[in-house]
Formats: sequence, structure tokens, C-alpha cells
Amino acid sequence: MADLFSGGAVGAVMGELLRAVIETINKGRQFKPTLETNIQTLNDIAPLVDQMMEYNDKLDRPRQEIQRLQSRVRQGQELARKCSRKLSRRKFLSFPYYQGKLKSEDQSLQRHLSFDVQVQNARNLMEVLLKVEEILNILGKQDFAKFSGSQIQGLSGAPEEPKCMGMDEHLSRLRIELLKDDVSVLVLTGLGGSGKSTLAKKLCWDPHVKGKFGGNIFFVTFSETPNLKNIVRTLFEHCGCKVPEFQSDEDAINKLGILLRLVGRSPILLVLDDVWQSSEALVDKFRFQIPDYKILVTSRVAFQRFGTPWPLEPLDHDDAVSLFRHSAQLNSKCSYMPDDNLVNEIVKGCKGSPLALEVIGGSLCQQPFEVWQDMKEWLEKQSILESGNTDLLSRLQQSLDMLEDKFSVSEKECFMDLGLFPEDQRIPVAILIDMWAELYNFDDNGRKAMTIIHDLTTRNLIKLIVTKYTSSFILFVAGYLKMLDLLTSKD
Ligand SMILES: Nc1ncnc2c1ncn2[C@@H]1O[C@H](COP(=O)(O)OP(=O)(O)OP(=O)(O)O)[C@@H](O)[C@H]1O
Ligand SMILES: [Mg+2]
Repeated sequence: MADLFSGGAVGAVMGELLRAVIETINKGRQFKPTLETNIQTLNDIAPLVDQMMEYNDKLDRPRQEIQRLQSRVRQGQELARKCSRKLSRRKFLSFPYYQGKLKSEDQSLQRHLSFDVQVQNARNLMEVLLKVEEILNILGKQDFAKFSGSQIQGLSGAPEEPKCMGMDEHLSRLRIELLKDDVSVLVLTGLGGSGKSTLAKKLCWDPHVKGKFGGNIFFVTFSETPNLKNIVRTLFEHCGCKVPEFQSDEDAINKLGILLRLVGRSPILLVLDDVWQSSEALVDKFRFQIPDYKILVTSRVAFQRFGTPWPLEPLDHDDAVSLFRHSAQLNSKCSYMPDDNLVNEIVKGCKGSPLALEVIGGSLCQQPFEVWQDMKEWLEKQSILESGNTDLLSRLQQSLDMLEDKFSVSEKECFMDLGLFPEDQRIPVAILIDMWAELYNFDDNGRKAMTIIHDLTTRNLIKLIVTKYTSSFILFVAGYLKMLDLLTSKD
């Protein structure tokens, strides 16, 4: 054979040609066994890779790496299918070409498995070690034996179930919204005293909500100056865990993330109650990528960044009467029983505000006819704010205090300007723009005026009604607040 190639018998050129032909024939011969080995390997790997993808999704990790591996396997399977067709049709001439393709596909898969996947495995292992280390730190090394992931359960920080009137419709619609898969944060908004916290607490006791979240319902109050570390501490306590030391706010949030992931084998509901404008960014810190983890925010501000806010409307008249009667304790033991007309008039003056109904109803409890009559006359002439109740006054005052100065103009002044219009009437936006242009020298085609209108809307002080064919209107919904400044500055 060696002679044959060295040119003795066939010459140098022919020798090269022959060598190539024999190589090709050999390649063709190897085609079948190579194909069989490839199919075997790919069939073994494919279900494992699919399983890896399932685990990856459960862990909520980025999909790219496994997708790359998955597409390589699919590519290989496609090529193997093509080659099998060639084999069954005995297309001998194409065997050497496909043998080459099979070999290089196999080599590239092997390279990917032995380099990229090995490195990814090492990285994943280090991530697991880091998480274990963090968990050990949280639980305290000596107490770790006492806990396992399944034992850490929310003990529920939901407060007492409140007495609630006329919220059934709101409650069921809000529950449906909250339980939707694509909702992770929901903002419940309304004026001070409109019943946001009450509705949020009631929701925590709703049988469907309890059924879904079980003990993993946590209720945290933010208020004006929330202390992040204290909040996280409380959440650890709710979970029955030893509270770790927090080096910083960021550290506290990281540790909370780990805790919630442990708790988060079942759904979690976190209620952040009474979030002020200044804490909007803080809400973001409580957002973790955990499946079935929901946050319900209550705020006087209709934050837009978390999706369409859920506005809490004033109570309708019948529910308002029920709440008022309950607060005034109108029952058979009363020494004086007002007639329905008097009750209706006073209730109307409360503008559907649960806080006002509760406070004014409470102030008339067991009072004689004259006091009831006085109240009715006050409310006809003045406003609920004149009832002299400081809690009512201060909680509503906060709605105005949140307003800022914009374009060197006080938004509070702008709100007060609305007092020139009759209450609960639609005011054409165009008129308002002209009026403020005149009063505050706005000369920008209404841009600044619209910014102020938007701010007043997000604070639930007015309602913007956008119509399709005619101009837009605003509704002066919190009209009774316009005399608030006057009253508080009198004191
Ligand atoms: N539907 C209701 N039925 C009975 N009482 C209610 C209802 N809604 C609210 N209340 C009562 O009205 C008062 C004010 O309600 P709540 O504190 O929930 O208002 P809020 O909107 O959270 O106010 P703020 O913005 O000041 O936090 C509470 O004392 C509450 O008990
Ligand atoms: Mg509240």
C-alpha cells in the first residue's frame, strides 16, 4: 500500500488523489456508527437539559445560558434527523459530507459542555455557598439546628379585623385585582380618612385572601418617617425568627430578601400602610422577584409607577347613614332619637368621608335635640371641618400639607382658588388654565397649569375627567378642604 501512495505504481499526483478518495470512502463508512452515537448522546442529554430549564424557571433565574445549551441540543437533533433520512434513502454520496457535519456538531457540543457549562456550574456552586452563608448568618449559627426552611412560617402580622360598612363591592373587586397573576404591587389611594387602612385590614381577613396567603400576611405601617431597619426587624419577628444585626438599610433589605425567599415557598402578601410621597422609592426596595409575592400599598398619593392606582371613592349615602348611625349609637336606649330627615342632612354634610361620619356621629352620641340641630345648621352653612374635632382637622390638614410649591407658585393657593367655583361641579380645564395664566403669569399654553392639575389629582383632591369629544373637566371633589387653611390658622 505504501508503495502505491509513494508513486511507484501510480505516480505522485495520482497518489494524492487516491489518498483523498480512500479518506472519503472511510468517512462514508464511519457515517452510520457516528450517527448512531450522536443520536444516543443527544437523546440522553435532551430530557436532562429540559429538566434544567424547569428548575431554572422555578428559581426565577435568567434563561439565556440554558437556552443556549438547549438550542445546541435541538440543532444536533435536527441534524441527526436529516442524516437519518439520508441513511434510509441510501444517499451514499452525501455520507462523507454529513459525516463531517456530524463530527463538528458533536465537537462543538462537547466543547460547550466541557468549558462553558463547567464554568457555569462552578459559578452556581459559589452562589449557593454564598446564600447558605447568608442564611447561616441570619439564623444564628447556634440556632440553625432549630430551623429548617419549612419551619419558618409567617405568623401573620395582620391586625385585628376592623368593623367595616359598605365596602363589600370594593373588597371583592380589590381582591380579584390583587389575586391576578400579573399584579405584584397594588396602590389603594384616597383622601385622608377615606378608609384605605380599614379596607386593607379587612382584605387581610377576607376568606379568599387568607386561603391563598395563609399565615404569610404581613401588615406594616410606614407613616411619615418610616424606619427601614425597624420595619425589617418586625417582619423577622412576625416570622418567628431570631432578628439579626443589620449593618445598614441595604443589609436589612438583603436579609429580608433571603427571609422572604425562605418563607416564599407559599404566597406572601405584604401590606405597606400609609405610604407618604417621600417614601415612594422605599416601596421599590420591598419588591423582590419571588413568585406569588404581592405588595398592597395604601397612600393618600396615587403613585403611578406601580401601575394604575385603585381609588377609594366616598361612601354612598345608604352606607354613610349606616356608619353614622353606628358611630352615634342610635339605638333604643337613646334619650333622644333624631328623625330620618335630620340624620340624612347631617350625613350629607359629611361628604361620604368615613372619618367624618365616625367623628361627627361619635360627637352626637347621647346628645340632646339642640346639639343635633346645631350640627345640622353648621354643616349647611359651614363645613365638617367646623365641627371642631382636632383629629379630623389634623388628618385632613395633612392632605394639604403634602402640596408643594411649583413654578414659584404654591399648589395650596391653586387648590384654594378652586373655592371660587361651586363645589361638586365640573370646571372646564380650559377656564382654569386661563385663570391661572392671568393670576400667576403662566405663559406656556397651559403646561404648568396641567402639571398642577395632575399633582392635585394624584393627591385625590380633585378628579380629572377626560372626555373624548369636548374639552376635559375637573371635579372639585375635596371642596370642603378649601376652608381648612382658614380654620387652622385661626387657632
Ligand atoms: N367602611 C368603613 N366602615 C366603618 N368604619 C370605617 C370605614 N372606613 C373607615 N372607617 C373608619 O374611619 C376612620 C378612618 O379610616 P382609615 O383610617 O381607614 O382611613 P385612611 O384612608 O387610612 O386615612 P389616612 O389617609 O389618614 O391614613 C377609621 O377610624 C375607621 O375605623
Ligand atoms: Mg390609613
